[in-house]
Amino acid sequence: MKSYIWSLPTRVFHWLFAVLILLAFLTDDDKLLNYHALIGYGILTLLVFRFFWGYLGPKYSKFKDFPMAIKDVKEFIVNIFNPKQKYIGHNPIASYVMIGIFIVAFITILTGILTFGVQEGKGLLSSLNSTFFKKMELFEDIHEFLSGVLIALIVLHLLGILSDRVLHAKHETLKSIFSGYKVTDENEGIKLNIFQKLIAALFLVIFIAFLLFNLTTPSNPLIASMYKPIDYKKQNELFVKECASCHTLYPPHTLPKRSWLALMSNLENHFEDDASLSEEENKNILDFLLKNSAESSTQEVSVKILDSLKNKDIIAITHTDFFKTRHKDISKKVFECVDVKSKANCKACHSDIEQGLIEDDKIKNIRAFM
Ligand code: HEC
Ligand code: HEC
Repeated sequence: MKSYIWSLPTRVFHWLFAVLILLAFLTDDDKLLNYHALIGYGILTLLVFRFFWGYLGPKYSKFKDFPMAIKDVKEFIVNIFNPKQKYIGHNPIASYVMIGIFIVAFITILTGILTFGVQEGKGLLSSLNSTFFKKMELFEDIHEFLSGVLIALIVLHLLGILSDRVLHAKHETLKSIFSGYKVTDENEGIKLNIFQKLIAALFLVIFIAFLLFNLTTPSNPLIASMYKPIDYKKQNELFVKECASCHTLYPPHTLPKRSWLALMSNLENHFEDDASLSEEENKNILDFLLKNSAESSTQEVSVKILDSLKNKDIIAITHTDFFKTRHKDISKKVFECVDVKSKANCKACHSDIEQGLIEDDKIKNIRAFM
């Protein structure tokens, strides 16, 4: 006989959760980072709902109806080939996988918010960027490791469904996540009370409103960057006049003190050009560069260029290993094309660099140059 096991809210949760997790993996790309973060927050709201639902929801969706005692697991494994199963909701192993998915997804999102804050200076924890910038990669590593664990758990979940199809086909578990009905011996179905319907409806409205809010307000604190565009003209007019006359205005925080000192002490022989200045002008610009050098910044580019330079005598960003690895996928043809001409012509591709930012969503699509 057919019993109604998975209520509509449980099924809607399941499919929204599955779709958003898939989208999170598909947006794992620097340029889509803001969307990736929004999807993460979306999953977080779903998890909050599922947490409440685990206590206030109907039978089988409640956590206390997850058969997770060791004796249940043993008994389930011993009887795994018995086509008749006594578990109507999740079986014991499935219960472990589900709870595992919820917990790992939750911690993955928390470490994601940490990475977003520390590494990019964005989102709820953007203020941590300046304190924890030395651990930039650590949080990202944990986040990536956990997302690997999440994939493993999802594979287990899919394998579980597959083996259930083979071993216990008559319960129609797979169909139940679409229809809500499983085949059982007696009617064991559930019905939602008005209170449960209200909670579910409320959460759905919050979830949709939240997604719409984020998509239409990209500057909201969940994704906004702590770095604002800088008007260098206001900070030092001479710097802009002199140092942007032949090329991109390189933000002072893209090179360390040591490089600026070397560069400014040899402007007569500046990359085969003569860029010399009066002593006074030179000192003015040099002071400005030193004050705002990479050492004084916690932007990702500064930290990584400092890391990559160590004590090497390099005065060009384009000669750093960091620059080379970040641009290794761009062919020579692109750098040499008429619209770019030189690797050093950053602004051809990074439309915000002269405002002191190198945002991923401001990088021009390099296919436009091909
Ligand atoms: C007379 C023209 C001229 C002026 C003025 C000038 N530069 Fe340059 N600069 C160049 C040329 C040419 C290059 C080499 C660009 C290339 O490789 O395509 C260069 C390269 C650089 C680079 C290395 C870029 C890289 O990563 O490859 C830095 C840094 C730089 N200049 C800083 C400055 C600063 C700071 C000032 C102001 C004090 C300045 N430049 C003024 C002509 C100039
Ligand atoms: C031909 C276009 C082009 C030029 C010129 C160029 N870049 Fe890039 N840059 C890119 C692209 C595309 C990416 C993204 C690479 C990726 O994600 O695989 C990138 C990535 C970066 C990143 C890493 C951004 C991040 O958050 O991951 C930095 C920093 C950067 N560029 C700095 C510079 C600087 C500084 C210059 C000039 C000295 C420069 N780029 C010149 C196209 C360019």
